[in-house]
Amino acid sequence: MKYRTMGKLGIQASAFGLGCMRFNGKASGDSTVDEQKAVSLIRRAIDGGVTYIDTAYVYLDRTSEIILGKALLDGYREKVTIATKVPPDLVNSREDLERILDEELRKLQTDHIDFYLMHAMNRQKWEHMKAIGACEFFDDMKRAGKIRYKCFSFHSSYEDFEYILNDWDWDMCQIQYNFMDISNQAGTKGLELAGSKGIPVVIMEGLLGGRLASAPDNVQALYDAFPVKRSAVEWAFRWLCNHPEVGVVLSGCNEPEQIDENLRIFDTVEAGIMSEEELKLMDSVREAYISRTKIGCTGCRYCMPCPNGVNIPGIFSAWNNWSLYNADPKSDWQFRMIRDKSNGADNCVSCAACEAACPQRLNIIESLQSAWSDLTNA
Ligand SMILES: NC(=O)c1ccc[n+]([C@@H]2O[C@H](COP(=O)([O-])OP(=O)(O)OC[C@H]3O[C@@H](n4cnc5c(N)ncnc54)[C@H](OP(=O)(O)O)[C@@H]3O)[C@@H](O)[C@H]2O)c1
Repeated sequence: MKYRTMGKLGIQASAFGLGCMRFNGKASGDSTVDEQKAVSLIRRAIDGGVTYIDTAYVYLDRTSEIILGKALLDGYREKVTIATKVPPDLVNSREDLERILDEELRKLQTDHIDFYLMHAMNRQKWEHMKAIGACEFFDDMKRAGKIRYKCFSFHSSYEDFEYILNDWDWDMCQIQYNFMDISNQAGTKGLELAGSKGIPVVIMEGLLGGRLASAPDNVQALYDAFPVKRSAVEWAFRWLCNHPEVGVVLSGCNEPEQIDENLRIFDTVEAGIMSEEELKLMDSVREAYISRTKIGCTGCRYCMPCPNGVNIPGIFSAWNNWSLYNADPKSDWQFRMIRDKSNGADNCVSCAACEAACPQRLNIIESLQSAWSDLTNA
């Protein structure tokens, strides 16, 4: 395992951090996590050299912290740093913050949390957290030794990221980043901004939740033609670790083989390790993925709200994901939500209000019908 220095904190962490958000159920269709298997996966990762474990209050129906707490008995707690998160949507006062932190410490069976994050932040959530006194609370808890570092995880625009990052003296930030997301969310600009301030960056969704683990034909052809043979997973992690600003790369693993493969990959990755040819390969891979894009919707939401409740940007995003990554729409949370809330394209009455508002001048009405047909028949 390679270990990397976490920016201004100066501490070392394993380049591969285990995410505890995606452990499988006992059987297909059963959402109850196979606890014994999850505990054994966590310990396998730690035995292999992982020192950074990520969870959150809300993961796995609020059971992820309990499972991690059990996995860290028998001397494992001392071998790792724990990152967990407070959900901004569930706190409205200092009392709420205190109650949730105490509950998390109990579930994790520990007296302190190393990295305590405000979860999935955007500007609106950040304003809310400031208004309820979360900054003072985090500082107080740091002084009391209940948390070691004050951090945030992020899912919004670069502008929001820059604003939040510059608005407080954060100890760490966690962003979604991978070779497809260079201009999405915080993106490369955000990574470099954090790096320039010495703020360590932890990466989530390095494989886009697993979608980059299996390459579609046109991408596989590029990997196959390259003189050095590596799996799609190895290319993705290697590309991430090539960035000196990247501290820990999180990955949620569901099988011992995935842990073992990731342990092997993170034995070899280092900043600045990729050659010009390898970087060009990854640019071509990105282009090959993008060539499968169904529609150039940028998710600006100028078309919303649709008078008939159609979730236009959500449908187009699910359509692109289906085409780009061969992803099954039934396992795409966005598509499932649209279908469950009846925000589908079957509500469209062709009023064309969306087309008048679209800055990309997309042929929305016709595309919605194609998207819905592809997604519902996939
Ligand atoms: N704070 C936030 O807002 C937030 C949001 C997202 C994630 N996170 C955290 O970040 C962690 C990492 O994100 P992520 O789970 O999305 O990471 P990821 O690495 O992008 O995706 C994990 C998935 O990739 C697949 N995978 C991993 N290793 C593999 C291998 N060697 N070979 C083949 N497939 C492999 C598995 O998919 P299959 O299950 O399909 O096999 C696994 O579930 C999460 O677990 C969570 O702790 C935080």
